[in-house]
Amino acid sequence: MATHFSPCSSSSTNFLPSSCFKNETTVLFSRFAVTVPRKSSWVTQIHSRIQGRKHFHIKSSNGHPLNAVSLQDGLDGSLTAKEHDKSQGKEKPSIPISEAEKEESTLSITVVGASGDLAKKKIFPALFALFYEDWLPENFTVFGYARTKLTDEELRNTISRTLTCRIDQRENCEDKMDQFLKRCFYHAGQYDSEGDFSELDSKLKEKEAGKVSNRLFYLSIPPNIFVDVVRSASLRASSLNGWTRVIVEKPFGRDSESSGELTRCLKQYLTEDQIFRIDHYLGKELVENLSVLRFSNLVFEPLWSRDYIRNVQLIFSEDFGTEGRGGYFDNYGIIRDIMQNHLLQILALFAMETPVSLDAEDVRNEKVKVLRSMKPLQLEDVIVGQYKGHSKSDRSYPAYTDDPTVPKDSRTPTFAAAALFINNARWDGVPFLMKAGKALHTRRAEVRVQFRHVPGNLYKRNFGTDLDKATNELVLRVQPDEAIYLKINNKVPGLGMRLDRSDLNLLYSARYPREIPDAYERLLLDAIAGERRLFIRSDELDAAWALFTPVLKELEQKKIVPELYPHGSRGPVGAHYLAAKYNVRWGDLSGDDS
Ligand SMILES: NC(=O)c1ccc[n+]([C@@H]2O[C@H](COP(=O)([O-])OP(=O)(O)OC[C@H]3O[C@@H](n4cnc5c(N)ncnc54)[C@H](OP(=O)(O)O)[C@@H]3O)[C@@H](O)[C@H]2O)c1
Repeated sequence: MATHFSPCSSSSTNFLPSSCFKNETTVLFSRFAVTVPRKSSWVTQIHSRIQGRKHFHIKSSNGHPLNAVSLQDGLDGSLTAKEHDKSQGKEKPSIPISEAEKEESTLSITVVGASGDLAKKKIFPALFALFYEDWLPENFTVFGYARTKLTDEELRNTISRTLTCRIDQRENCEDKMDQFLKRCFYHAGQYDSEGDFSELDSKLKEKEAGKVSNRLFYLSIPPNIFVDVVRSASLRASSLNGWTRVIVEKPFGRDSESSGELTRCLKQYLTEDQIFRIDHYLGKELVENLSVLRFSNLVFEPLWSRDYIRNVQLIFSEDFGTEGRGGYFDNYGIIRDIMQNHLLQILALFAMETPVSLDAEDVRNEKVKVLRSMKPLQLEDVIVGQYKGHSKSDRSYPAYTDDPTVPKDSRTPTFAAAALFINNARWDGVPFLMKAGKALHTRRAEVRVQFRHVPGNLYKRNFGTDLDKATNELVLRVQPDEAIYLKINNKVPGLGMRLDRSDLNLLYSARYPREIPDAYERLLLDAIAGERRLFIRSDELDAAWALFTPVLKELEQKKIVPELYPHGSRGPVGAHYLAAKYNVRWGDLSGDDS
């Protein structure tokens, strides 16, 4: 299969300096490698202060002490939005920033590929949400960059259609939108043109007005032009006196080789610390909460091993197909699109050992260890499917190959299930089952943890012959309707002794009335703050590809034909056989809450 990434440019004269000076931040991604005193950037400064205190404060991804989060003792159930704001100090930075610090630096965010779907749907709205909630620094500018010819006003018109104010905070919405849009500008240019990036640089400088400039580039573009953009921007539009960071959207390659090549090319212009590989699943509230749940509740961590856990299921499903956007998807398929990144990242967070601290490197070190401990994935532990057309009550649903952007003979899987194992002392023998699919009967992403049987269960006879149904199951529903619930056995009130399975249910919308920020908001904020914990390090990426590349190659080389399943169904039957092989039943299809 041809590589889909442009080769690294050989024209670069850039090189990376080998050392940093104490108390200084080395700025790469630049025309020159410049060392600047930390003092020059408020964001860097805040970050360094947080870092300095990391052994004393547990911090959330946005750098706030976790102990600043309200424990809400004494409150009956939910909080009103106002109470919630108050109890959290409206989640404002706990570290004071002096007026001088605020004024002496600027933040410029350039969204490369600003004319695209992701930019309009996610990135600009996330930036506005951050602005609306006062998370952005005082001096900030947003630039859109793409080839499409647009004026500043046209960009503003386009993005204004996708901006929304928080449902619970509509005050000053129009004003805030106007203020935000006034900070948005556009520059049309080619992705490989140093001249065009030079012009962007001049415009950025004009807005920065001689202050220390911190620059964030968001690459919301197809991967074949990542390196062109990084090269041009690096040579012509990086900051000379502050930091420069680049957020890179997936896909990070399509196998070990292409991913390694992409990393190697990016590292001609950037250091690892400047590359923020985004997996937006890591910014999702429930995924972020996974570690909190496990490491700050005594009732969970002691159970987190093969001794108590029978199997773990990572499930992703969409209730729609590619709908005319299959061109991109057909080149990747569901394993690369969802499993190798989103689901595997969640698995690594779920299964990692306790990190030394919540510092990015400590957490990422533990995730890499899990990934590197995984048993090589065998083809017989993978099943693939593709949705076919289907008619139901006068409506017909198209097959994947009906999508005009998909070849008629495509064998690209739109569904896959896999059984994975971690060869370490904690997880030896525990199946981690993954399942991801498009055009299924429901839309959801969740982690299901099925616990072992209660030994010598006194109530055995109350459960009949199906003891599996009596085991506990912990479900983390990532989307939609975020929730954590635990299935337990409970006595039905009354004089008899009848048991049923009930849920201890933490439904977020009932407990936390404030709207949950979009994953892109959290991740953008983290990138601005230099917090890398929720971004993927290159060795994590290598380990993730090492796990999936052999099986992906085998699927392609052996021309494995995917099992067809009807659009809107529960997926191919093969997924049930795969689970049954390891004595597992898919929790989402158990009938309890499917
Ligand atoms: N959409 C999503 O929900 C989503 C989710 C996760 C990841 N991603 C990734 O994020 C990136 C952006 O997604 P998107 O949906 O916004 O993509 P897109 O709309 O296809 O592309 C973004 C912009 O890139 C430029 N472009 C498109 N194809 C190009 C080509 N062949 N050569 C040069 N420029 C091209 C276009 O701008 P101009 O023509 O104006 O230059 C386009 O507006 C992609 O890498 C995608 O894989 C997207």
